Parts: sequence; structure tokens; C-alpha cells
Amino acid sequence: MRLLVTGGAGYIGSHTVLELLQAGHDVVVLDNLCNGSLEALRRIQAIAGRSLQFVQGDIRDRALLDRLFAQQQVDAVVHFAGLKAVGESVRQPLDYYACNVAGTLNLCQAMADAGVFQLVFSSSATVYGDPAQVPVDESCPVAEPTSPYGRSKLMVEHLLHDVQRADTRWSIAILRYFNPVGAHPSGLIGEDPLGVPNNLLPYLSQVAVGKLDCLQVHGNDYPTPDGTCIRDYIHVVDLAQGHVRSLQFISRHKGCSVWNLGAGKGYSVLQVISAFEQACGRSVHYIIGPRRPGDIAANWAEPSKAERELGWKAERSLASMMADTWRWQSKNPQGYR
Ligand code: NAD
Ligand code: UD1
Repeated sequence: MRLLVTGGAGYIGSHTVLELLQAGHDVVVLDNLCNGSLEALRRIQAIAGRSLQFVQGDIRDRALLDRLFAQQQVDAVVHFAGLKAVGESVRQPLDYYACNVAGTLNLCQAMADAGVFQLVFSSSATVYGDPAQVPVDESCPVAEPTSPYGRSKLMVEHLLHDVQRADTRWSIAILRYFNPVGAHPSGLIGEDPLGVPNNLLPYLSQVAVGKLDCLQVHGNDYPTPDGTCIRDYIHVVDLAQGHVRSLQFISRHKGCSVWNLGAGKGYSVLQVISAFEQACGRSVHYIIGPRRPGDIAANWAEPSKAERELGWKAERSLASMMADTWRWQSKNPQGYR
């Protein structure tokens, strides 16, 4: 297939573009580079031994999208482009709604006008809010998210269901990611956050490599076995392969389907720290701090719908997530810079 990948120069997008090239697809990446890297795209092409096309631009630029669809024979769109920092979304909600909601609306309008009706969308487990029970499956009710970022994802999910109900030519995959971590095993591509990271794994690995002094564990008084929060960490290569499978599915089935992409296992913050220390062979300085507002005690996926319908399941262990994170971080202490 010939694919447009928005946000393909970012963390999950870059790993997915690599899997798509290796699966034989042709790829055009559209990215405004606000949080992506051209170096990532260069390295992907080196690993795959194939080239891709890159267009620098914004999903909110309708004229650009129209030109792009007119010039390229795109069969489907894999849509990663968006802003993702939860705290920033609380301070700058307009930016988040403009990029994540209005940007997706603009993309869908351009797709419909160009006659392109296959779309894979990056949603998040954040749409489950604080679930009444874990693991969560796709039939669990969505909840009121705790941030503008979360609300932007839920709004787009509603938008996509409505669009597909109104015009059954659409075929849409909504993928709810749990906690993507890790890096390609080559150590050539990985997560390269701007500034001080918010998420656990980039923070932990930057402490281990000496860029940051100390990790703060956000609370150890949760109702979990060791008191720290439990999450479902999923290797980014497994996640990327889930996109390849969902594209196969939507090319054969109409509709708007939702799948959890998680490993189906929960690990606590302390378990993750310990697994990371094993992987990097050194101890990582951490202290226990207060809870972080908005955090929930535990969330992990019931991922069997994806296995049943897509033939996909996460294969990589926590140890390999940690080893691959460390390989990337230690080979690229300054990220792509
Ligand atoms: P990322 O920031 O690394 O990648 C996003 C890419 O989109 C970047 O390259 C950025 O430059 C580009 N981009 C942003 N706004 C754009 C715009 N208006 N026009 C064109 N390009 C734009 O983030 P990621 O971790 O790779 O996440 C990808 C998607 O998955 C996002 O939609 C995110 O919300 C979603 N998601 C991520 C996680 C996670 O933990 N990383 C979890 C759940 C969902
Ligand atoms: C967060 C977002 C979620 C978003 C996801 C991916 C919040 C409340 N949730 O998920 O909406 O989809 O990132 O971008 O921000 N932790 C520490 N110390 C740290 C960092 C994290 O102890 O320095 C803990 C957190 O309390 C949490 C766990 O590690 O228990 C994972 O945190 P994180 O990586 O930020 O992911 P989520 O909070 O699950």
C-alpha cells in the first residue's frame, strides 16, 4: 500500500514507519518537526535499505494536504501527528484542541475530498480514566479524561465514529496505546524528548546516563502490592507491528473499530526501576516523592480483542524493553542531536 504517515518523524511514528517499509509499503511522512527528527528518518532508511518521501508541514494546512493527496496515490493514512504532554495541555488547552482535534478534523475532510477512506488513529488508554476494574477491555466505558490532552483523544474518537456512521466508505482503526517504551534493537532510533522528560522511562534512562540527578517516584501509598502505580508497558516495536496488522484489517473490513494495544501485564514503578537497573548494570538514584496529580493507581489492558481480530499480540518482555531503552540511551546520550 501507499501510505501517508502523519507525525512519522516522532517516537512511535518513526518505529512504525520502519516496520511499514520492512513490510513492503511505500511511505510518505508528513511532519512539522515540532517534536520529530529528520535524523530519525535518515536512520530508518538506512536500517530498512529503502527510501521514503518526507514532506515538512502541518496537518492543519488544508492547502498542503490537498496538494499532497492530489500528487500522491495514497491508499491509507496512519495518523500520529499531535501534541502529547499532559501538563502542557492543562496550561495550553487551545494548542491541544487546535492540533489534536482541529488538525484531525482537517485531515479527515481532506481525506474524504480526495477519496481516501482508510485511517489508523493513535488514541490512548487515558480515555478509560480511572477504571473501576482492571484489566480494561474495549467494552469498558470511556470516562471523563483528567486533562485537555485526554479530552482531545476522546473527542477525536467520537468524531471518527460519527464520520464512519455517516459514510460507510470509511474504514477506521482506533488504537488505544497503553505505555509505549523501549526502542528499536539496533539502538539507532528511540524516544528523544525535548527538555526534561515527563514520562517514567525517558526520565529513568536519563538519570542512568548521568544527564539527570535523581528520579522521583510519584507516591508509594497507592493500594498496590508495593504502593507504587502499576502500568502496562508495551515495547514500541510491538506497538509498531500492531499498526501494520491494523492496516491489513481495515483494508479488508469497513467500519470503525477500537483495539487496546497493551501487553496485558502490569508492572509497578519499583519493578520497572529494578528491571532497568538489571539492564544497565548500575543502580539508579531515586527518591520517593508525593503523588502526581491526575495519576491513577493501576491500569493495564485486556488485549485479547487485538489477538483475535488482528492476529497481533505483544511479544517482547519487560527485560527487553529495558535493554533496548538502555542501548538507545547509552549510544545516543544527546538523542538525535
Ligand atoms: P511524538 O511527539 O514523538 O510524535 C508526534 C509527531 O507529530 C512529532 O514528530 C511532531 O513533530 C509531529 N506533529 C505534532 N503536531 C503536528 C502537526 N500539527 N502537524 C504535523 N506534525 C505534527 O509523540 P509519540 O509518542 O510518537 O506519539 C504519537 C501519537 O501517539 C500522538 O498522537 C500521541 O498522542 C499518541 N500517544 C502517545 C503515547 C505515548 O506514551 N507516547 C501514548 C498514547 C498515545
Ligand atoms: C502519561 C499520561 C497519559 C499519556 C501517557 C503517554 C498522566 C497523568 N498520564 O501516562 O495521559 O497518555 O503518559 O504520554 O500524565 N512516574 C514516576 N516518576 C516520574 C515519571 C513517572 O514515578 O518521573 C510514574 C507515574 O507516577 C506513573 C508511572 O511512572 O505511575 C508511569 O508514568 P508515565 O510514564 O508518565 O505514564 P502515565 O502517567 O501512565
